[in-house]
Amino acid sequence: MIRDVRIFKDQGEMSEAAAGFVAGAVESVVAERGRCSLALSGGLTPKGTYGLLAQRYGGKIPWPSLDLFWSDERCVPPWDRHSNFRMAREALLDHVPIPSDRIHRIQGLRPPGIAASAYEETLREHFGPASQHTFDLVLLGLGGDGHTASLFPGSPALHEVSRWVVAAEAPPGTSPPWRVTLTLVALNAARQALFLVSGEDKAQVARAVLSEDGASSGLPAARVRPGERLLWFLDRSAASMLET
Ligand code: 6PG
Repeated sequence: MIRDVRIFKDQGEMSEAAAGFVAGAVESVVAERGRCSLALSGGLTPKGTYGLLAQRYGGKIPWPSLDLFWSDERCVPPWDRHSNFRMAREALLDHVPIPSDRIHRIQGLRPPGIAASAYEETLREHFGPASQHTFDLVLLGLGGDGHTASLFPGSPALHEVSRWVVAAEAPPGTSPPWRVTLTLVALNAARQALFLVSGEDKAQVARAVLSEDGASSGLPAARVRPGERLLWFLDRSAASMLET
């Protein structure tokens, strides 16, 4: 696995670079294999990238050949302000010609365990039940505690060894409390993963995850090791404590 860390002046420049990278990756995978599977990250950081994908690449990306998934979802209705689907719909999906049957939403309204099993089935059907590979590209964020997707430090979800999707409870006091998340099994079966990290408040955890001994930190984000390439796009504030 190649690790590629890129630092940008600010969140705007990072979002521009991320949109360009995602568009390029989708185009090359579709050219090579006819289809591309992309998992979107939740949280707020990727919103700028999604908007640029719509504004700058809306006419370039072969949307009918792209299958869109999510790396996690909060267990809330798709119209809820906490919904990762809603954020992506408003920033991207409502503005591009992607067929609705290419959008594979995690059903946040169903009970967490049911929603997780249903999403597992969707993925197994899409990639093939015995497939060793999942997504061509997964977008991920980094939480201040080192979580990614909804894999929180100390969560039983981190010990999953076979399922690609599980229900996960967020730490006490985190709202919404219940999530559906890809597991490390699914994330590490992806070909490429791209973390988008912005802001001073992520500087300490970015250093912990990306440092030499990051892998032994046990932090969930440090355990993401896709098959081909792991990319980190950070703005200068988030990268301010990285060992140079
Ligand atoms: C979520 C995300 C989560 C997010 C990080 C960073 O559902 O919230 O999957 O992992 O990416 O918490 O969030 P921000 O980008 O909002 O800082």
